[in-house]
Amino acid sequence: MQTELSRKLGIEHAVFGFTPFPAVAAAISRAGGLGVLGAVRYTAPDELRRDLDWLDAHAGGHPYGLDVVMPAKKVEGVTEADVEAMIPPAHRRFVEDTLARHGVPGLAEGEASGWRITGWMEQVARTQLDVAFDHPIRLLANALGSPPADVVRRAHDRGVLVAALAGSARHARKHREAGIDIVVAQGYEAGGHTGEIATMVLTPEVVAAVDPLPVLAAGGIGSGPQVAAALSLGAQGVWLGSIWLTTTEADLHSPALTRKLLAAGSGDTVRSRALTGKPARQLRTEWTDAWDDPAGPGTLPMPLQGLLVAEAVSRIQKYEVEPLLGTPVGQIVGRMTGERSVQAVFDDLTRGFEEAVDRINRIAGRSGQ
Ligand SMILES: Cc1cc2nc3c(=O)[nH]c(=O)nc-3n(C[C@H](O)[C@H](O)[C@H](O)COP(=O)(O)O)c2cc1C
Repeated sequence: MQTELSRKLGIEHAVFGFTPFPAVAAAISRAGGLGVLGAVRYTAPDELRRDLDWLDAHAGGHPYGLDVVMPAKKVEGVTEADVEAMIPPAHRRFVEDTLARHGVPGLAEGEASGWRITGWMEQVARTQLDVAFDHPIRLLANALGSPPADVVRRAHDRGVLVAALAGSARHARKHREAGIDIVVAQGYEAGGHTGEIATMVLTPEVVAAVDPLPVLAAGGIGSGPQVAAALSLGAQGVWLGSIWLTTTEADLHSPALTRKLLAAGSGDTVRSRALTGKPARQLRTEWTDAWDDPAGPGTLPMPLQGLLVAEAVSRIQKYEVEPLLGTPVGQIVGRMTGERSVQAVFDDLTRGFEEAVDRINRIAGRSGQ
């Protein structure tokens, strides 16, 4: 599974793996793909430094990348406390009532909620970049919009390639104008924030829109034939996020959540604003149902919703309250039916890719070649 882009990066397979877990990122790079560590959960630069040091020691000398969340719109001088003050009391009551209905206990005194919005703020993303550029990252990806011009320059000065996620051809063209090197065309099926266009339709549109920039196809890919399909649509590689969540190297801290993921079918996700205020695909739960119920108060815009629900999400995870327990995940969750190692996922991808190529060759009358 080699393309011009994989050869440029010096990786064996054109498989890029987004993951919040350093152990998974290292395993992806060791297996011949490019592991990309998500930085949004790091609010303290020292934690990110510690984990990137660990990656340097465990990626076996193979390249890896970092994914930051730099919102396109810059918000100056606003603190988390300012944002807190903008949350209506009725929404806070709704959170507490929903948790109370399910008997969710509170956190212990002084116990911090594990999820903050600060990773979504540009100033935090910038401190993450200072740490990242002290490490031999090979790729810098940005989740929400094009990265600022000075960040692209800084990356290029260090020989780091810059990627950005796009849910439409219009977004992809904006990224090209911002001088980035790789567009990740992320379809509707994907876990996390998504647009409304399916990968099958989006990939060739983005390939045509940004030609000759390389495009990675993302969303709904979890098998070799799907990799072959993406490459035949003109992508120079694939970008996978969900499939790693149930690998043995992933650390979800919740056996109940792993069980739910393994049991879920492709119809068990929903694109909901419940988590961050922007549409993000995730497991459908009684928590997402409550927020999507027209009888409820509805969600708040980003970043208010994320701040409003941060503590609640931590409580649901800590006490593993199954009806409410969820995570961002894509429709490919239906294929995630057993825990396996990252290497086993790669073995399955390469085997399935070869079978798909053989099948197409036979259909094209080239059998035996
Ligand atoms: C648990 C989870 C968290 C994610 N968080 C981010 C993120 O912080 N930044 C980002 O660029 N993409 C994020 N994504 C999206 C992935 O980068 C990727 O585009 C997507 O998972 C691909 O589709 P798939 O889920 O069908 O593999 C996340 C995806 C998942 C499943």
